[in-house]
Amino acid sequence: MGQVEAAVEFAHAQGPRFVEELKALLRIPSVSTLPEHAGDVRKAAEFCAEELKRIGMDNIRLIETATAERTGGHPLVYADHLHAEGKPTVLCYGHYDVQPAEPLDEWKSPPFEPTERDGNLYARGAVDDKGQMWMHIKALESLLVAGGGKLPVNVRVILEGEEEVGGEGIASYLRDHGEALKADVALVSDTEMFAPELPTLCVGLRGMIYTEIEARGARTDLHSGMYGGAAPNPFIALAQVIAKLKDEDGKILIPGFYDTVQVPTADELKAWTQLPFDEEHYRATEVGSVALTGEPGYSVMERTWARPTLDVHGMPGGFIGTGAKTVIPAKATAKVSLRLVPDMTPAESFGQYKAFVESITPKGIELEVRLIHSGDPIVVSTDNAYVRAAVAAMREVFGKETVFVRGGGSIPVVGDFVRNLKIPTVLMGFGLPDDNLHAPNEKFHLANFHRGIESIVRFLVGVGV
Ligand code: BES
Ligand code: MN
Ligand code: MN
Repeated sequence: MGQVEAAVEFAHAQGPRFVEELKALLRIPSVSTLPEHAGDVRKAAEFCAEELKRIGMDNIRLIETATAERTGGHPLVYADHLHAEGKPTVLCYGHYDVQPAEPLDEWKSPPFEPTERDGNLYARGAVDDKGQMWMHIKALESLLVAGGGKLPVNVRVILEGEEEVGGEGIASYLRDHGEALKADVALVSDTEMFAPELPTLCVGLRGMIYTEIEARGARTDLHSGMYGGAAPNPFIALAQVIAKLKDEDGKILIPGFYDTVQVPTADELKAWTQLPFDEEHYRATEVGSVALTGEPGYSVMERTWARPTLDVHGMPGGFIGTGAKTVIPAKATAKVSLRLVPDMTPAESFGQYKAFVESITPKGIELEVRLIHSGDPIVVSTDNAYVRAAVAAMREVFGKETVFVRGGGSIPVVGDFVRNLKIPTVLMGFGLPDDNLHAPNEKFHLANFHRGIESIVRFLVGVGV
């Protein structure tokens, strides 16, 4: 029996154990954005490092990302296995941090108590990205066991704990030590399949700038009866500013914002029209709203993959308790992000946005526009042997041809891999459209966890041929 068959057989036999291990990782609430969870984030890093050691990887280390200029950074986890002389080096990337689980009362089972229901594993991070990252580690374990300690390619593993907060730690590590991750190809499993049973490679990601606009009015909170009518209200000011950023047709009104937006090629646009997509089903079941919004004349795929957008995520400030309090808050904040597409750049887009917001500052209000984090948009090449190896691997596992899609989400480090380190990157993800990423009841369809492991095993062997 060859290494592929032996590894696949091992993965199959050990599948239930792999899931139990993943559950243990999912019990660690590694929410990177909340300072009170910093210890949990580190625990998750250590959990991964220990497993990489146990399966026989070399040079395992936690790389600290906090610096004098930047406190609170979460560690990177590194491991390698560089004994396949003459073979390519694959850089396996994943992230072990997760988004906050709130609102908690919407979860059918608690977010950090992983629970199996109907062939799905429910937990925060199940699919984004602990479950998918675990597929990489389990594929490596299966190959190491099947190969008597040898891998068919050279492998470096890099795991980050700040993906969900912009990835500044890994970005600054790569600026200084990019050569430490030298590889021929990067494998990222942090995206979705277009539909169940449909093997999918993601070939583009949107970039983003995540911002806060802070509005200040009065010097202190005021009685809204005594001062209402004369004193500026920062929430009203923010509402007025936000309303001027985007029109009813979803067009962003920032001057110059669309100047560098690239239209996808005719071939890519044509391929998107051939994907199995039912807009009415998408509206009713995936989005679940009475209507879809966005730019007329663009398909949902174009709107979410190839057009920039702007969203408001929350407006902290004022009174949000139960009941009523008659106050004019002294200040209020809006968390606003903008998704970018090639060839927009975060620096230029943020400059345009900041200047425009400042130019429409309402009377009596002082605004501060802050950049929280940012990441580049990216389109990756599909014309290389690594993409062909991924397609061949998934053909074996799914018995189907792979579709190429883009993703509307962002993975900031992919831009660094592709542009700065010049590493061709394969985005082979196994999430499903209804996996509830970032939402209550996040899940991973366990069949896809197992098929993902087998696909990665076959991909690594294929790259080594
Ligand atoms: N895995 C997602 C990105 C993703 C999801 C890409 C689905 C394609 C399809 C990633 O963990 C993510 O959520 N990224 C954040 C990045 C941000 C905080 C910088 C995002 O897109 O909001
Ligand atoms: Mn992710
Ligand atoms: Mn995410």
